[in-house]
Amino acid sequence: MSDPTPAPRFQNPRARHHFTSRTCSVTGVGSYVPERVLTNADLEQMVDTSDEWITTRTGIRERRLAADQETTSDMAAEASRRALEMAGVSAEEVDLIIVATVTPDMPFPATACLVQEKIGARNAAAFDVEAACSGFVFALEIGHQFVASRTHEVVLVIGAEKLSALVDWQDRNTCVLFGDGAGAAVLRHRPDSAGLLTVTMGADGGKGSLLCVPAGGAARPASVESVRQRLHFIRMDGRETFKNAVQAMLSAAREALARCELDISQIQCVIPHQANQRIIDAVGSRLGVKEEQLFVNLDKYGNTSAASVVIALDEAVRGGRIKRGDLVLMTVFGGGFTWGGAVLEW
Ligand SMILES: CC(C)(COP(=O)(O)OP(=O)(O)OC[C@H]1O[C@@H](n2cnc3c(N)ncnc32)[C@H](O)[C@@H]1OP(=O)(O)O)[C@@H](O)C(=O)NCCC(=O)NCCS
Repeated sequence: MSDPTPAPRFQNPRARHHFTSRTCSVTGVGSYVPERVLTNADLEQMVDTSDEWITTRTGIRERRLAADQETTSDMAAEASRRALEMAGVSAEEVDLIIVATVTPDMPFPATACLVQEKIGARNAAAFDVEAACSGFVFALEIGHQFVASRTHEVVLVIGAEKLSALVDWQDRNTCVLFGDGAGAAVLRHRPDSAGLLTVTMGADGGKGSLLCVPAGGAARPASVESVRQRLHFIRMDGRETFKNAVQAMLSAAREALARCELDISQIQCVIPHQANQRIIDAVGSRLGVKEEQLFVNLDKYGNTSAASVVIALDEAVRGGRIKRGDLVLMTVFGGGFTWGGAVLEW
């Protein structure tokens, strides 16, 4: 007599879907920028600078600043409401929230948890991702993995920053560059679309000190001395950051295109990280991007770090620059250093 088949030792819930992946699309996008506008003329009153210097060196004309009581999670929640509305999804249907930010409301709880509460997404898990200005593209790839693997159905991916809280308003080298804002994207499987075709990601931790906030973490907790030395603000080597940004954004974009066997001419909209017009121009010309393919809103918002490309994506979609079936290329760079490239079928 043969032995009966032994009872399985456990249930493997992941085996239920046989590990076959599926595509993941952005089905809704939304953004929010605060009302208050800080112009280059305003900055002339604050530090030794000029509208002419800022405009010619960076392309930035104005940026938005959050109100004193307005937090990163407030901006993220408003952007999320707009993205959910476009996607036609209720907050209760969201089962995962990922917030990319370097300006969380506080060290913990995660800003994603605060957003969950504010929008009423009571069925969602929530956590933050920190990859500085590359954060949204990194979070997009993470969210994609959950949808592709059938672990989650509706993932809300957000890039949100209150950089004005980290800017040293006495440092003309940095204070002219940054702004506040948020953008959000709803990720789902959409049967008739290839969705997010690929994401490339990279990092070089050896160059971390070139763009950082030195204190306020566990290595250098806040102290009277750290405050006196202004170590809680952004420190940046502008020239080195510039050079690295051009190289990294270029190679990330090229790798993403190569993986999809796409030529740049097949891309309808290129959305680079909005840090500096000269970086965008250098990357764009080397990639062979035509002016009509490029989306730039840097002049209005400055560098909003993790919120940058998703605010741009939202404005491009709502402004009719991106239509269903169009191919979008994003390329980003940030502190870490980190970088990434993404190709998306809208
Ligand atoms: C910051 C940045 C605009 C400076 O432009 P730049 O052409 O490299 O300028 P330099 O660093 O050569 O500085 C030139 C001079 O302008 C001065 N300067 C800097 N900021 C100024 C300002 N806001 N107004 C007037 N002068 C300024 C500098 O002090 C320097 O003066 P010096 O030669 O007497 O020392 C540029 O390096 C940059 O954009 N870097 C990348 C920043 C970035 O994108 N960071 C985020 C990445 S995610």
